[in-house]
Amino acid sequence: MPKRFYIETVGCQMNVLDSELVAASLLAAGYEAVDNRRDADVILFNTCSVRQHAEDKIYSALGRLKHVKDRRPDKIIGVLGCMAQKDRAGIFKRAPHVDLVVGPGQIGQLPLLLAQLGADRTPLLEISLDRRGKPRGEVEDSFEQFDPLRMAEARQARHQAMVRIMFGCDKFCTYCIVPSVRGPEQSRPAREIEAEVAQLADQGCLEVTLLGQTVNSYEDSENGGSVRLADLLERLNGVEGIRRIKFVTNYPRHMDDGLLQAVRDLDKVSPYLHVPAQSGSNAVLKRMKRGYTVEEYRDMLERIRATVPGAAVTSDFIVGFCGETEQDFQQTVDLVRLGRFKNSFIFKYSPRTGTKADELFEDDIPEDVKRRRNNELLAIQNAISQEENDPFVGRTVEILVEGPSKAAHKRESAGQTVQLTGRTVCDRIVVFDGPSGLIGQILPVRIESANSFTLFGRLTFANQEEGRGELRQP
Ligand code: 5AD
Ligand code: SF4
Repeated sequence: MPKRFYIETVGCQMNVLDSELVAASLLAAGYEAVDNRRDADVILFNTCSVRQHAEDKIYSALGRLKHVKDRRPDKIIGVLGCMAQKDRAGIFKRAPHVDLVVGPGQIGQLPLLLAQLGADRTPLLEISLDRRGKPRGEVEDSFEQFDPLRMAEARQARHQAMVRIMFGCDKFCTYCIVPSVRGPEQSRPAREIEAEVAQLADQGCLEVTLLGQTVNSYEDSENGGSVRLADLLERLNGVEGIRRIKFVTNYPRHMDDGLLQAVRDLDKVSPYLHVPAQSGSNAVLKRMKRGYTVEEYRDMLERIRATVPGAAVTSDFIVGFCGETEQDFQQTVDLVRLGRFKNSFIFKYSPRTGTKADELFEDDIPEDVKRRRNNELLAIQNAISQEENDPFVGRTVEILVEGPSKAAHKRESAGQTVQLTGRTVCDRIVVFDGPSGLIGQILPVRIESANSFTLFGRLTFANQEEGRGELRQP
């Protein structure tokens, strides 16, 4: 019988992509995928280190597996990804029943490592070099690139795919663990990305989301010239079969006019820009070492609005960063009010061992203050999201149908109709009723109501005059 594996994934889209690639490599090696821990011979956790909460979740899941391993010592338990790179052998100390600790730069070796474990049950630790004190080239090489040929069966949705265009990060924002655990910034060759997107299109993929920690600092050198993100978008815009191109996450300082013009002019590129601000206070931005002032961020927003009217802009904010005063926080509130983001992800600062902020500053904002600021900012953002969604009521938007909605209460058996969910070109979530055969199609939906997170609508027909010309609108 083939060995069965189960991967549990937490964290960002990069992790979701890594899990897909790991799954594909295991399927190719003859393993079978299962959707729960109980039936699996190999249980893998693809982990996140960006906040303490994400790590706690994994350690408690590992703790609960102790008795499983006592009963079934043949089961293999593996920890992959950012927490593996950060905590290293410390994971074996906290959870001695773990067999395998594999950093994000080594996940491509997984089939080999599992085979090795099968022969000899000595726990294995495979991680990249520490960035500190080593020559850059050596560290880069130790973060092995892993973007094999794509396998449609390993993806959650056949018509949507993420494509890594960059590895790592060089920004070293003082609060952030990513540059240590994901390694130095490296762009993938444009030709390789183009070939991957063409292959995805052949597999029926309609939408690609390009991934990088600072995706708009992408730069590849080709024939002595430089290929920037705007150039790459232009090339991908020409790939037949692809209908939508998104890219995340942008770094404010690299949001240049050439890129904005490409977003405006290329018909497949979504006018959707995720550009985290993190704070509205210059003092805090400086301690975060973000490399811009709030005035510069506001100028960037103005340039976005002027060049790509109607673009959906989204942001991330951290509240309760070291030394954040009420006044600093009010400046963040002001920025959220001014920015009119489609939505914002708001996080309470979580100190990370190994970061500059943890070394230099005291985590001096009490938890209850962090919580209050988080709730306050979220309430303000939600009110704005609602105001931004309301004008869609009565409009017809074009959506890519993704699948059954989370709360799909209407069963398919009851009249072939389920509650489906899809997204507009600007990444707005739309919920409507329809047969599940529509999954993977791009269709017009007339919006009938909206809350701050979701638009609710009804399918219309493509040949109706109504809504024409609105289809590329957010
Ligand atoms: N604490 C809280 N939030 C963090 N982020 C990154 N590091 C931390 C941290 N130490 C947030 C930032 C980033 C998002 C992915 O996670 O807002 O944009
Ligand atoms: Fe972390 Fe800053 Fe890099 Fe984003 S840009 S991954 S927040 S260090």
